[in-house]
Amino acid sequence: MEQKTKHGTEVSNQIEDYLKMLALHRIREVYNHEAENAARTKLSYQDYLHRLLENQILTKIERSINRKMQIAGFPQIKTLEEFDFTYQPKINEKLIRELASLQFIAEAKNLLFVGAPGVGKTHLAIALGVKAAQARKRVLFFTAEKLTELLASSEVSNQLNKTLDSLSRVDLLVIDELGYLSLTKQTSRLFFQLISKRYEKSSTIITSNKPFEQWGEIFNDDVVASAILDRLLHHSYPFFITGKSFRLKYLQNNN
Ligand SMILES: Nc1ncnc2c1ncn2[C@@H]1O[C@H](COP(=O)(O)OP(=O)(O)OP(=O)(O)O)[C@@H](O)[C@H]1O
Ligand SMILES: [Mg+2]
Repeated sequence: MEQKTKHGTEVSNQIEDYLKMLALHRIREVYNHEAENAARTKLSYQDYLHRLLENQILTKIERSINRKMQIAGFPQIKTLEEFDFTYQPKINEKLIRELASLQFIAEAKNLLFVGAPGVGKTHLAIALGVKAAQARKRVLFFTAEKLTELLASSEVSNQLNKTLDSLSRVDLLVIDELGYLSLTKQTSRLFFQLISKRYEKSSTIITSNKPFEQWGEIFNDDVVASAILDRLLHHSYPFFITGKSFRLKYLQNNN
């Protein structure tokens, strides 16, 4: 680096101050280094400015994705790339890959993954949720049990409307493990309110071990169950996964 003149030092201090005031932290980190690169590779002023702005924007996008992923509350990260479709040939791979384009969120359609334990329901739900968070959609992951607890405690503290409003603003709500525990008539009513509020406005992914005919047992009420199912299925892609549990894969291989 050349020795800086008094003027050069003043300008450089001001640049630092301006970048701080404008919160362009990434540019502050890289502009000196990029300037040396630009001089060495004879980059135009325009290309230099473009590189700095691109750096700043990419950092902003990365931060926003990280925030969306954190808020979503996935229990673990699963990806479509890790999913072995050959193990579960009944799943329509082409459709799942199309869903990864997230058009279903734009159309407020729902996805339902129904099947026995270990067939990949949660994996697929998380993988599509991750895609949505990476596209900077608002995503929330709940087990049905946790969601039910949230709704019930909100009602007790007179916050139900607030909770329903905030849940209805989520672009993609993932409700996992519906059916492992039954809801009371009271919590089924709250669940119905939530599904009604999101109906035709935003997408919900539900995973369940129980076929639709048994949802009356989950909700302790056939009428409420069919009202919930009716709304969920109206604009939806249901997947009935009939294959073997992936958890048994290695057991079988050892035989
Ligand atoms: N086809 C697959 N390819 C790769 N990994 C898979 C596949 N299916 C399932 N898995 C893995 O097997 C484990 C069980 O899958 P998952 O949790 O999705 O099952 P599930 O259908 O949700 O079962 P449960 O009803 O018990 O919750 C997970 O670790 C998941 O990542
Ligand atoms: Mg699961």
